[in-house]
Amino acid sequence: LLVHGARQVVQVVANGQQVLKGAAMRQLAEVTAGPAGGVSIVVNSNGRIADIGLDSVVTSKYGGATFDRTINARGMCVLPGLVDGHTHPVWAGDRVHEFAMKLAGATYMEVHEAGGGINFTVRHTREASEEELYTSLCARLNTMIKSGTTLVECKSGYGLNVETELKMLRVIERARRDMPIDISATFCGAHSVPEGATAAQATDDVIDVQLPAVGRLMDSGQLRVDNIDVFCERGVFDVAQTQRILAAGAAVGLAANFHGEELSRLGSAEMGATLGARAISHLEEVSDDGVAAMARQGTIAVVLPTTAYVLGLRPPPVRAMIAADVAVALGSDFNPNAHCVSMPLVMNLACVLLKMCMQEALAAATINAAASLGRADTQGSLEVGKYGDLVLIEADSWEHLIYQMGGHENLIKYTVKEGVVI
Ligand code: NIG
Ligand code: FE
Repeated sequence: LLVHGARQVVQVVANGQQVLKGAAMRQLAEVTAGPAGGVSIVVNSNGRIADIGLDSVVTSKYGGATFDRTINARGMCVLPGLVDGHTHPVWAGDRVHEFAMKLAGATYMEVHEAGGGINFTVRHTREASEEELYTSLCARLNTMIKSGTTLVECKSGYGLNVETELKMLRVIERARRDMPIDISATFCGAHSVPEGATAAQATDDVIDVQLPAVGRLMDSGQLRVDNIDVFCERGVFDVAQTQRILAAGAAVGLAANFHGEELSRLGSAEMGATLGARAISHLEEVSDDGVAAMARQGTIAVVLPTTAYVLGLRPPPVRAMIAADVAVALGSDFNPNAHCVSMPLVMNLACVLLKMCMQEALAAATINAAASLGRADTQGSLEVGKYGDLVLIEADSWEHLIYQMGGHENLIKYTVKEGVVI
């Protein structure tokens, strides 16, 4: 693929760094067109970036070459494919009625404790056929692609028993093989305590029944699973239970990447950092000590502004995290509580609600989200040798991807995955 004539290519990083912290989140690498012509990107037949430079320089290097496809990007800006670090995209049964309850004043935990919330979705997801879940997942992934996402983390977690958790992971696996978007799969059998069980029983079931079944399918090559997740929260799984589950997941090769400090401050950030967790999501309630522990261990903070927005929570302390050199990443948290697949909208919310600047939001939605999934060696920035995963927008400057709230069908002209328009 040859893209030429672009106004601007935002590389995010250009020096092989695999995560951005502190002031580096505001100093993104970019190549801007000169008066004589635009900027080009060449993606080779293996889907890797071969070159980025001014049209004149690239044309003289590749003068005689032929390309499968050439895109004239006059009037466009090119950004790295967006990375969504946290989603729950496999479920049946919407919760629009709970949205109304929350607007009328019910809290997330009140709905949850009344048997709604996650357990409502669990009942519907257990009943749904694998085909139905697959079809709705693909439709959701297609909307993400149209919004510029090229790598997305996808969790199980609406089964809470071995049959349905495996059904969800098979659905994710099938989409991973069929769909032109990259997926990082997460086993989240500890997303909630199933009805009729205690948290202690659910912890044992995840460790002794569900995880070994997942491990067997991983060993036989039927499933690729990357991460393990737990909803560590008062009234769900406590810190000690979370730690046991994450350690059991690590023993079968899964990276710890879990929900912590969302509605109450339990010290799960400190626990996660000590355990060497790759990432912790939410963190609305994290303490200064938790932030310091994450900084020391290099644990990435995946912040989810849709949750704070939809539930009216206090936003996570992103300014303190960045000041302490914690790498901040972004995710949509797409789920029946926060029904948002759009990373451009998530970046806008991150700027307005979490007080990030646009450069920080873009770094968080690209290289740092890729790092939270262990994929920053191949994704998250536009550098020679990395995947040719691109978003092309028709605008005077790249910031329009964040500034424009919705209407993206007129803004995002192409999403490209490994050199192929998807
Ligand atoms: O990240 N907090 C736990 N999990 C989800 C919500 C899932 C649900 O409500 O269905 C979250 O916000
Ligand atoms: Fe979540």
